[in-house]
This record gives sequence, C-alpha cells and structure tokens, in this order.
Amino acid sequence: MKKEGQSCKTGAGSNPVLSEQDQKIKEKLSKIDHKIMVMSGKGGVGKSTIAVNLALGLSLENFYVGLLDVDLHGPNVPKMLGIERGELRRRPDGTVGPVYYSPNLEFMSIEPLLPDRDSAVIWRGPLKTSAIRQFIYDIEWGKLDYLVIDAPPGTGDEPMTVAQTIEGAYAIVVTTPQEVSLLDVRKSITFCKQVNMPILGLVENMSGMVCPHCGKTIDVFKRGGGQKLAEELGLPFLGRIPVDPRIVTAGDAGKPVLASYPTSQTAEAFERLVRKVIDMTQMLNSQEKD
Ligand SMILES: Nc1ncnc2c1ncn2[C@@H]1O[C@H](COP(=O)(O)OP(=O)(O)OP(=O)(O)O)[C@@H](O)[C@H]1O
Ligand SMILES: [Mg+2]
Ligand SMILES: [Zn+2]
Repeated sequence: MKKEGQSCKTGAGSNPVLSEQDQKIKEKLSKIDHKIMVMSGKGGVGKSTIAVNLALGLSLENFYVGLLDVDLHGPNVPKMLGIERGELRRRPDGTVGPVYYSPNLEFMSIEPLLPDRDSAVIWRGPLKTSAIRQFIYDIEWGKLDYLVIDAPPGTGDEPMTVAQTIEGAYAIVVTTPQEVSLLDVRKSITFCKQVNMPILGLVENMSGMVCPHCGKTIDVFKRGGGQKLAEELGLPFLGRIPVDPRIVTAGDAGKPVLASYPTSQTAEAFERLVRKVIDMTQMLNSQEKD
C-alpha cells in the first residue's frame, strides 16, 4: 500500500531522469493560463461528458483550449468528439501532436499509446504512472488559455499522476444526485488535499430530467443535493446538468450536445457552467497576480 500523500513526486526528486522530465514538463505547462482536472470519486458520473462540453464551451467563448484524455482503460473522449483512432497517431519523432476539433480546440489522447481498442489493458501502478508522465511530456502543446483534463475515475494512480505532473491545476468534482454521498465527495476532497490541488467547485450531473416531449426539466429524482453538499463542505457550486437522452446520442454521434443542440436547456446549463468556470478562473488568476 502506498502511504498517503506520497507518490511519484517524492520518487522524482531522487531520480535525476525523472526530475529532468519534471522540469521540462513544468516549462511546457507554465505557458498555459488555466488547468482544470475533471474528477470524481466514482466512475460513470459524467466526467468525460462534462470535460468535453466544458472544453467546447470555452472554445466557443474564443479561448484557446486543450482537452487531455488520460484514461488508460478505455478512452471514450475521441468517440465523443468524432475523432478517428488513426488521427491520433504518434509522430515518427515520438512526439504527440494534438488533433484539432476546431481552430481553437485541440485534443490529445493517450489512446495512440494503447495496443488496440478492444484489448483489455492491464497496467500495474508504476507502469501507469510512467506512461502518463511520458505522454504528457511528449505532447506538442500549442498556445493554450485553458487545459481541461478528463481524469479516470476514482482517486488512484492515474488521477494522482496527473495531479502531480500538471502543476497548478484546479479540480472540478463531479457528482450525481443519487450518489451525493458525503463519503464520495469527501474522498475526492481528501485526494485533492493530498496532492495539493485546489478545488474549483462541485458540479451536479444528471440533476433533474429534460422531458423528451416538451423539453422542460422534470425533477424525477431529488435534485439540488449537490448544492447543499457544496455549501456544507464550503466548496463553490458550479452548476447542475440535467439528465438528457440527447447527451448520450450526441456523445455517440461524435458531436457534443453543446454543438448539436445549442439552443436546448441542456446546452444552456453547460453554458452557465462554462461562464462560472471562466469567472472563477479569471478571479483566481488576478488574485494570484496581486
Ligand atoms: N446528464 C446526462 N444525461 C444523460 N446521459 C448522460 C449524462 N451525463 C452523462 N451521460 C451518459 O452517461 C454515460 C457515462 O458518462 P461519461 O462517460 O461522461 O462518464 P465518466 O464519469 O467519464 O465515466 P468513466 O468513469 O467511465 O470515465 C455516457 O453514456 C454518457 O453519455
Ligand atoms: Mg470518462
Ligand atoms: Zn414534457
């Protein structure tokens, strides 16, 4: 078992190759104004959906945005953006170039490093850590205002590596009304403390349902638990996204809901989230500069 608060950071300090890599990664990432890691204590709560639509929304506000997918077990972000596997190949010189979804939204996935789409990849902890670090190191980062990172579920090796490799990142914690349990979100908070990652706020996904007939939001399950929880924990509440079947079809069709149904209530909910994120990150940046 790994001791709390200890991981590759401590290891990197004592290994000259790793610390050189650390230094180079740091230099590369220092040019990016805002880094945001979307995470959750549990799988399947909509991290990738939030990350994709957040990145797209920021790019629609004319920011230069990078979306980074580091899920070793089954990257599904390329599919959500309609990006073909072949487009994500490693270059002959070993670098990984981003794929452009639009002129100001670039996307990078660890997928080209994986053997093939259908093979079950079994990684051991240290292998995961070095694969993710190497991947981040190999990327040719362009000019970016925002880097959105779609983290794998939980609080294990992968989010740990990302958090420790990408310095200065903020976390967005995703939860759902059914799973609004203090325990789950607390786990994420503990994790963020361990890796010194400040939390930008909490998002409640699958909150209420958009009626497929009239487009109004119906409260099938209770909603609003996320906001209450955020208040209890002293975290900013960033917004709620309803359950909307179009999120699934849009994701499967490779055109996120924000692009395919821009006037829907769901798209509006994402837009509010995007605005909130912009306001908060700009406020934090100006505080840092003071
Ligand atoms: N608000 C929503 N309404 C309807 N479906 C949704 C919503 N959010 C996510 N989904 C669907 O739920 C499934 C899981 O979402 P997603 O892949 O974004 O979760 P995840 O947290 O990234 O999962 P993992 O932990 O496996 O990475 C997907 O099929 C997605 O389309
Ligand atoms: Mg995911
Ligand atoms: Zn209705």
